[in-house]
Amino acid sequence: MKLWNKGFEPDKAIEKFTVGQDRELDLRLAKYDVQGSMAHIRMLQSIGLLTKEELDLLLPALQQIADEIERGEFQIEDGVEDVHSQVEFLLTERLGDVGKKIHSGRSRNDQVLVDLKLFFRDELKHISESINHLFEKLIELSEKHKDKLMPGYTHLQVAMPSSFGLWFGAYAESFTDDMQMIVAAYNIANQNPLGSAAGYGSSFPLDREMTSELLSFSNPHYNVVAAQMSRGKTERAVAAAIGAVASTLGHLAMDVCMWMCNNFAFVSFPDELTTGSSIMPHKKNPDVFEIMRGKCNRLQSIQNEIALLTANLPLGYNRDLQLLKDILFPASSELIECLDMATYMLGEIRIKDNILDDSRYDYIFTVEDVNRLVLEGMPFRDAYKKIGMEVQNGTYHPHRGVHHTHLGSIGNLANCQITSKMDTLMKKLGL
Ligand code: ARG
Repeated sequence: MKLWNKGFEPDKAIEKFTVGQDRELDLRLAKYDVQGSMAHIRMLQSIGLLTKEELDLLLPALQQIADEIERGEFQIEDGVEDVHSQVEFLLTERLGDVGKKIHSGRSRNDQVLVDLKLFFRDELKHISESINHLFEKLIELSEKHKDKLMPGYTHLQVAMPSSFGLWFGAYAESFTDDMQMIVAAYNIANQNPLGSAAGYGSSFPLDREMTSELLSFSNPHYNVVAAQMSRGKTERAVAAAIGAVASTLGHLAMDVCMWMCNNFAFVSFPDELTTGSSIMPHKKNPDVFEIMRGKCNRLQSIQNEIALLTANLPLGYNRDLQLLKDILFPASSELIECLDMATYMLGEIRIKDNILDDSRYDYIFTVEDVNRLVLEGMPFRDAYKKIGMEVQNGTYHPHRGVHHTHLGSIGNLANCQITSKMDTLMKKLGL
């Protein structure tokens, strides 16, 4: 049964092809579809298109559907195209003709848009909460291990002293940059498309400010065509934010894999968090971080998938847009799963002590020694030359002390300032 039934049933193969994954994916939109419909019918009543009595029948019936969704009892039946159709059919089945009145001044095009905006708002908040948990763990570890030195590398060659305080804190601060992208995507999503109908508005005097307020949007997406154009554009912003977070997390996962490598052995995890080999009895592999790295690399590609899916589409609604859900819905769940797994794993990380005592890292201290000579009055270039010649002649012996005090350095991590940046960003999402 279709909302647009005109006395013939479409070919089964056509139906299967066009409905695609909607019956499963739309379940994630169901709760928002009901919220959107509640706002829409309150507005219809305010402009005289529904009576108070009709509204009083419809609102509890929609609430009943919301409760069924909450309890996991809601399904999109075979033969019903999507969530929008299912909700309207249920209302009509339960209330009769009054159920058929709710779609005045609305199209599934703005209905799916409003569902998606509400969904993205919540999803971006969920992602942010997971980022924040990981952030807090990273800051905690940075403070805890601030005195544990490690080699810093450039070109993968030992370079200068670094520390686990610096390393953990680096990822914490890097996630604050990604949060800026999340906030930007949230602000783009937080605009009300309802009332754009099929994409060109309606001859009913729809009160779009009212539905914006009821659904707590920052404002209507005013121009009805712009509102429709936001499908695809919003997804691209969300995908860019997901890609930014995934890039940081993938980088962190790579570092952990490298520090776990036996040649480094800077970090380790309890046995039960590692994986074994079917042939090599000694193996304790970092599969978790490898899967995380792989997933995060893939997550960075969805922005391109969305760009290609939406490139050069004609203005107005086109069914291609439905496929955006196939790309983005699993991606945001996967990102949350990776973030939570990283927090879980880092809760158990073990850091090796006294790494820099190993003579293979002696050259890490050359710049420290150059600087010491500078402080004693030698010009920098002469000090550089002196230490350089000692290295060259094999006579270099490091002074192992590290004394970095400036803002953001080993001895002054600025974790409070970094935390306050994160708090400010979380507040922008009301978290
Ligand atoms: N499932 C559809 C989608 O996601 C709902 C909108 C259908 N609109 C239409 N004109 N066929 O885009």
